[in-house]
Amino acid sequence: MKIGIVGTGYVGLVTGTCFAEVGLEVTCIDIDQKKIDNLNKGILPIYEPGLEELVIKNHQKKRLQFSTDLKTTIQDTDVIFIAVGTPPGEDGSADLKYVLQVASQIGQSIENYQVVVTKSTVPVHTSEKVKAAIQAELVKRNRTDIPFSVASNPEFLKEGAAVDDFMKPDRIVIGLEEERAEEVMRKLYKPFVLNGHPVLVMDIKSAEMTKYAANAMLATKISFMNDIANLCEILGADINHVRKGIGSDPRIGNKFIYAGIGYGGSCFPKDVKALIKTGNTSGHPMRILQSVEEVNEHQKTVLANKIKKHFGDLKGRKFALWGLSFKPKTDDMREAPSLVIIDFLLKEGATVSAYDPIAMHEAKHMIGDSISYVEDMYDALAGADALLLITEWPEFRNPDFEKIGTLLKQKVVFDGRNIFDGKELIQKGFVYQGIGVNP
Ligand SMILES: NC(=O)c1ccc[n+]([C@@H]2O[C@H](COP(=O)([O-])OP(=O)(O)OC[C@H]3O[C@@H](n4cnc5c(N)ncnc54)[C@H](O)[C@@H]3O)[C@@H](O)[C@H]2O)c1
Repeated sequence: MKIGIVGTGYVGLVTGTCFAEVGLEVTCIDIDQKKIDNLNKGILPIYEPGLEELVIKNHQKKRLQFSTDLKTTIQDTDVIFIAVGTPPGEDGSADLKYVLQVASQIGQSIENYQVVVTKSTVPVHTSEKVKAAIQAELVKRNRTDIPFSVASNPEFLKEGAAVDDFMKPDRIVIGLEEERAEEVMRKLYKPFVLNGHPVLVMDIKSAEMTKYAANAMLATKISFMNDIANLCEILGADINHVRKGIGSDPRIGNKFIYAGIGYGGSCFPKDVKALIKTGNTSGHPMRILQSVEEVNEHQKTVLANKIKKHFGDLKGRKFALWGLSFKPKTDDMREAPSLVIIDFLLKEGATVSAYDPIAMHEAKHMIGDSISYVEDMYDALAGADALLLITEWPEFRNPDFEKIGTLLKQKVVFDGRNIFDGKELIQKGFVYQGIGVNP
């Protein structure tokens, strides 16, 4: 089976590569010529553990091609995935312009039966719009005889573990309206569910909603724990104990209940906003999600407020920042809490020296030289008034605190992810502040 993936970003590249890895012939399409040229040279646009070697291997074996030529690809494939971005529009709703542009292009080029699968995260009713956009082009071409099916196949991969998540998914969700498409989709995913994990086939609207409900639930867990953490701090309790206390209850589970400085990334913020918007336009305000978002906005300021409270005037102060990406093992900086904190510190007249194992290139792309970047995590500390731990990369988990104490101007640590042992740091003479902890 030959497949085409339109949009070669985090989702499209991982999807295309993993399908090629199980033996399918895949062409990944993008409008970004430079991205495609680089991929053809083995240069990846993103960092994702394990992805580079799979891309290079499958490209060499000619199972994975990269192109900007959508028309030829469509005419040569059986299934076409739409995996372009769906960024938030001004009113918070998902902007479907890229998805619908691709749908129209498909309608302009399709010659034989195709399953057109939306993998981008899109609101309920989008597949109907995709279908209408394709049909409109077929009418213009006077080719309404060409058959096609639409399907929804939301993606649940986590950045930082995307290859593993795709190769060994918890579940595959497929929204369909025709048996013909079901057969194709089941065949496509068979190699990925040999472990017995389910392929859940449902109607298209439910599949579209499943993706939003999943992200909204995860964002809710995070905001709930951050709210409890802030209360713990006031009352003298410790969120780390509370987390373990509730996480051992299987009805609650121990994942996604870590307190921190708010969720970020390219998905949760925009998907929560989009679902709130969908609720409002459908006459059903999503009250819980409105609070989830409100708590998250507040949480992004918690560390900055602690810094301000501790130091007072920040003018002329220098801060060492460990971690820029929105979470470990990715270079994705979209909606990263680090950006909010950096913005605050710079506006207050402070300077920032930052280190991130992977995301500094992307950070430079977004915020340029407004901060300084160092190649070694300890180099950020020289002469700084405090260390700010922003992203919990594994290499930050057990640092040399003696060295940190010598390099910092003041022995002050703000731990935005609660990865350090506050009691230990206080014993070593540090001022330590975490999130919802009372060491
Ligand atoms: N990133 C994630 O972790 C993740 C996880 C699950 C779902 N999603 C969803 O998947 C979708 C894609 O997300 P992403 O993070 O991969 O986005 P991305 O921004 O990394 O990639 C999108 C790509 O689409 C390309 N593109 C835009 N218009 C195009 C067109 N007309 N033709 C060809 N290519 C075009 C862009 O150049 C870009 O390379 C979004 O809807 C997102 O919500 C993302």
